[in-house]
Amino acid sequence: MAFHLLNKDIKSLSGSSLVTFAKTASQKEKPPQLTFPGLADGLALAIEEKSLTGKALETSIYRELNANGFRHVVVVGLGSNAELTHEILRQAFAAAFDATRSLQSKEVFIDFDSVGAGKRDLESYAKAAAEGLVLASYAFEELKSKKKEDEKEVEFHVVSTKAKEAAFKRAFEEGLLVSQCVNFSRYLGDMPGNLMTPEVLAKKATEAARGTGIKVTVWDKARIKKEKMGGLLGVSMGSDQEPRFIIMEYHGAAKNKKPLVFVGKGLTFDSGGISIKPSAGMEEMKYDMCGGANVIGALLAIAKLKLKINAMVLVSSSENMPGPSATKPGDIHTARNGKTFEINNTDAEGRLILADALSYASEQDPELIVDAATLTGAMVVALGNIHTGYFTRNQDLKKKIEKAADASGELVWNLPLVDHHVKDMKGTFADLSNMSSGKGAGSATAAAFLEQFVGENIPWAHFDIAGTGWATGGRVNYCPKKGASGVMIRTFVELAKSQV
Ligand code: BES
Ligand code: ZN
Ligand code: ZN
Repeated sequence: MAFHLLNKDIKSLSGSSLVTFAKTASQKEKPPQLTFPGLADGLALAIEEKSLTGKALETSIYRELNANGFRHVVVVGLGSNAELTHEILRQAFAAAFDATRSLQSKEVFIDFDSVGAGKRDLESYAKAAAEGLVLASYAFEELKSKKKEDEKEVEFHVVSTKAKEAAFKRAFEEGLLVSQCVNFSRYLGDMPGNLMTPEVLAKKATEAARGTGIKVTVWDKARIKKEKMGGLLGVSMGSDQEPRFIIMEYHGAAKNKKPLVFVGKGLTFDSGGISIKPSAGMEEMKYDMCGGANVIGALLAIAKLKLKINAMVLVSSSENMPGPSATKPGDIHTARNGKTFEINNTDAEGRLILADALSYASEQDPELIVDAATLTGAMVVALGNIHTGYFTRNQDLKKKIEKAADASGELVWNLPLVDHHVKDMKGTFADLSNMSSGKGAGSATAAAFLEQFVGENIPWAHFDIAGTGWATGGRVNYCPKKGASGVMIRTFVELAKSQV
């Protein structure tokens, strides 16, 4: 699959497949607006029968229509002009991608100019269009022995007379690039646990960083021990697989500019450990490294966009298994910052491996710290697979996050974190317990635990992606129904852009 921007007037082209967009008219009784020449006449019957109305994401495939030199025509609705958003366009382009897959065309031409100019800032729409296409194109087929029939190379041309303008081109390319990074993170997430161990995750991050200017350092078990990362080490003890601590550094600004530090949970398989999980659905716990995968993807995008900031990624990576040396309920370990914790449930392991990563992040004199983790089942109960819940006590960072998520189109929801939650995490025999002594609010108390490892006065936000990291059920058409979503990468990139 390849995606190009083509600086042409669509009317001057011909080919196998065309995608054009329709809008509903401002007055209800009026026919939909179709700008492609002759199409309204050719589809008069469909318009009359109201099977073609132009309403948002209505997708119609007209085979062998032979309109203006195009054999097949796909019409995707955008709704009314006034209500058109970036998210509708992103999904409309994803719908266009899906529809053309069935046409077996080698070349698809997409009529961007039919999106309609008006006073809109078309650059940002070009970016959304590119995102819709690339995000929809993701499929994890690598481990199937037979390739799908329709998997032949398809060239997608987004055609616009605006394509000659540098800002338009740049925005389109940004959309492609960021989405390709999202797809890379999805790939890391979808890889099964036997093929995606901490060692492999570190290798994949190292390979992907090649040529981007990102420096990657990987700490093995001996180094992790030497660095006093008792949380990460403790969680890894029940597994044959050694843990890894992955450090990625990007310098796009002067050395003295404080870095943004992105921390990720890279738990490559969470069986629960001695507090073992029930069998049903346990296979999904290969996704417990999606926080790590997604911060890696975000940094790759930041580096490829050459943003003028300094940024860093820290991923604590381990398996959580019930082997003979595994951490037992009641065991006490010491984190890098010297705080001790008793482990009352070995399944609450994410917070333990993140404790060391957040301590290390705090030592970097960061501008801010943001972490992403599939941390609690309680988050799935609270917000399902629609919003990503996040916690921060920093109002300025909260504003930045809301702005970034607005720009990315990803849905986030701020949840409360107060001193009561901290109190609930006090230990009996150690400083802290990894289980709350209170009832409910499992995501907030987990966040309160993490907070104990963030240095004072450092702006910090924690994103619990347990509900949104994978299997978002096709709520948006550019996210796989079952696989990893790559959630928050686009928001983190927007956050990074706001720091330039
Ligand atoms: N990785 C899980 C959280 C999770 C569960 C993510 C379901 C996505 C879907 C985490 O390590 C975990 O097991 N947390 C426990 C904590 C509890 C024992 C305090 C949980 O949420 O049940
Ligand atoms: Zn767990
Ligand atoms: Zn986990």
